[in-house]
Amino acid sequence: MTSSCFVYITLPGEVENVTAGQFQLTTDQKGIALGQFVYGKKYLSRNDAVEIDPIELKLQERLYGTARLGGVFGALRDAGPDYWGRLVIEKHSGRPILGEIDYLLESPDDRAGALSFGLGTTPPAPKRKFNKTIDLDKLQRLAHDLVQDELDSSDPDATQIQELLLLGTSMGGARPKAVVEDESGLWVAKFSRPDDRWNNPRVEFAMLELARQCGISVARSCIENIGGKDVLFVHRFDREKTRNGYARARMISGLTLLRAEDSVQKRDRWSYVVMSEELRRVVSQPKKDAAELFRRMCFNALISNIDDHPRNHALIAMDREWKLSPAYDLTPSPVVSEDQRDLAMTCGAEQRFANKRNLLSECMRFLLSRDEATQIISSMEEKVESTWYDVVRACGVSVKDAETITRAFVYPGFKR
Ligand SMILES: Nc1ncnc2c1ncn2[C@@H]1O[C@H](COP(=O)(O)OP(=O)(O)O)[C@@H](O)[C@H]1O
Ligand SMILES: [Mg+2]
Repeated sequence: MTSSCFVYITLPGEVENVTAGQFQLTTDQKGIALGQFVYGKKYLSRNDAVEIDPIELKLQERLYGTARLGGVFGALRDAGPDYWGRLVIEKHSGRPILGEIDYLLESPDDRAGALSFGLGTTPPAPKRKFNKTIDLDKLQRLAHDLVQDELDSSDPDATQIQELLLLGTSMGGARPKAVVEDESGLWVAKFSRPDDRWNNPRVEFAMLELARQCGISVARSCIENIGGKDVLFVHRFDREKTRNGYARARMISGLTLLRAEDSVQKRDRWSYVVMSEELRRVVSQPKKDAAELFRRMCFNALISNIDDHPRNHALIAMDREWKLSPAYDLTPSPVVSEDQRDLAMTCGAEQRFANKRNLLSECMRFLLSRDEATQIISSMEEKVESTWYDVVRACGVSVKDAETITRAFVYPGFKR
């Protein structure tokens, strides 16, 4: 079976799409998928053309092929929905989605990054349709219903609300979310789930604040109480509101940067150390970004954020140059083990072990001397240990929730 689509891109400084190339996905009788991509000749001849992905899809006239990620090039896959978006799209379309290209075509254009997809050689006019904050109460209720699979299809509002919720599905991730617009621009709204063990939006908000106080560059965020429930709003760092519309930054996930597969069974390339080396070859300020990645790795170890998989890291390019995106999706995990906790990615000679000695072991590959790296870890350790409680409480986390997550912070095995 073969299906194909055109790939459109919003060039730096522009607000409308142009056609960049064509993607084709072929699955043979054994179910083995091959993806192919070519840049259009017209696109390549533009002075302002930019690469979709600095790793796998450089700006060259050639036929690219991949069998990784089910044949979908990482940069294209990054623009597609994940668990949450797929759930909404399937519910909404009321039929099983056939393949990866369908997900790209069925999801709306508010996806992360600068790409869009369609069947026409020229891109359709932009729809500029976004959820407004006024819809949030409904959106949150629907998100809860959807999680519980209790959506009442006889509700006359249901179809309309599903359409609202559909806007935002192309953002990745597993938690219920929507994209909403206010006067300042676009936000990712992250809702609670009915099965959350603590007030997740608030705790995530507090972790972004704690990370900021530890010197990490984080996405701007705020909390709003909607219909009695807290919702986390994270400002979209891949969109910039201009007078004529939204400028869009290209975006690739850490998974694409690493040329890795996305299942934990095939995580051999999931590594902060490798990620540092790969990003050093691509970003405009290697020393700055490698040190920043090192700080994020240390922070994740100090708050037991074991959900720090490669899709929770990204590179963005608002202009021509690539850089590490602000940090996002930081969640503590009160793991039981006090001796050894593993991050999702390799962080040193002792693999994924979230431990000071291990974090230091490959510091040179983050372009840091032993002294510099030791200094970063020690001051962050001190900061997290002495301030986490005050920070989470100041961010409105309840005493009960703070107690529930207390084991996440600077666990004994970190210092061992
Ligand atoms: N502030 C942001 N600006 C732009 N894209 C974002 C932002 N926050 C998250 N994303 C993108 O959306 C995806 C899902 O968001 P994330 O916070 O990781 O949700 P989840 O908790 O469901 O994993 C991320 O992997 C990233 O690609
Ligand atoms: Mg995530």
